[in-house]
Amino acid sequence: MLKQLKQKAIAEIKQAGDLNSLEKVFRQYLGRKGELTQVLRSLKDLSAKERATQGKLANQIKKEIENILEQKKYKIRDTKYELPKEWLDVTAPGVPMPQGHLHPITLVQRQVEEIFQSMGFTVANGPEVETDYYNFDALNVPKNHPARDLWDTFWLKDLDLLLRTHTSPVQARYMEKNNPPLRIIVPGRCYRHEATDASHDVIFHQVEGLMVGSDVSAANFKGVIEEFFKQFYHTDVKIRLRPSYFPFVEPGFEVDVKRKGKNWLEIMGAGMVHPNVFKTVGYKANNYQGFAFGIGLDRLAMIKYQIDDIRLLFTNDLRLLKQF
Ligand code: DAH
Repeated sequence: MLKQLKQKAIAEIKQAGDLNSLEKVFRQYLGRKGELTQVLRSLKDLSAKERATQGKLANQIKKEIENILEQKKYKIRDTKYELPKEWLDVTAPGVPMPQGHLHPITLVQRQVEEIFQSMGFTVANGPEVETDYYNFDALNVPKNHPARDLWDTFWLKDLDLLLRTHTSPVQARYMEKNNPPLRIIVPGRCYRHEATDASHDVIFHQVEGLMVGSDVSAANFKGVIEEFFKQFYHTDVKIRLRPSYFPFVEPGFEVDVKRKGKNWLEIMGAGMVHPNVFKTVGYKANNYQGFAFGIGLDRLAMIKYQIDDIRLLFTNDLRLLKQF
């Protein structure tokens, strides 16, 4: 009778096609009121001898059925397993996140800083909101002097302040606090109250340079600036100085640069620091001499990256910015 029970159970397990019918088979034989469970329960009514043989057999069959059930369960799971409608393929290549990068002006500023630092210059800074005094007076441009017209100035209403028109005021600020010998560059933002065009914007960037010592000469200036452009453009350059006027230098120059196969480009103003500037910051004028210069950072970037309109640099058009 036990053997028949076993055959029946095995046949039904074989027929079960899904987990539900398999569960039914389990209940049918091994559940609380299952056929085999009842047999096991009735063992206690048998004689000791019979109980021993029947008990052993019944338990063995129970184990066998459990095993077969278990295996069938895995088999159904393996074959019936369906991929969920949405699923994650952990081996698929990722979607790249858009990544920001430095603005071309920042790139150029860092290159400039690196080159001058390699020649012993320190990077100094000053405020963009400046006083009349540092922007003009200390640079040998007294009030009512016609040279003030060279810089169209944004004045801050009702305050005795302005937006600096150049980085030159940092020359005076730095010399007031430091004694020669000194070598600094001052990169920074400047402002001019004027109409914009392809080469002028209301906001732009300069790098001021200043080197002062007991015998710093115009020849030193030429050497330093030639070396700078050589490194900046990675090519041999020629430098040409033309006389020009800036109130804070004497003599003053306009500096032109020529790369191989290219035209002369006017690129910066420079000169030997005016004795009046030394006097204003408290240096004994006869003890020191030095050169100063101011380069347009935007212009350097435009030449380097062949951008023909300065205004493009700050319209933040991603089609342009993504090229750097
Ligand atoms: N500050 C001048 C400007 O904005 C540029 C300049 C010219 C700076 C001559 C200098 C210099 O230091 O020596 O037009």
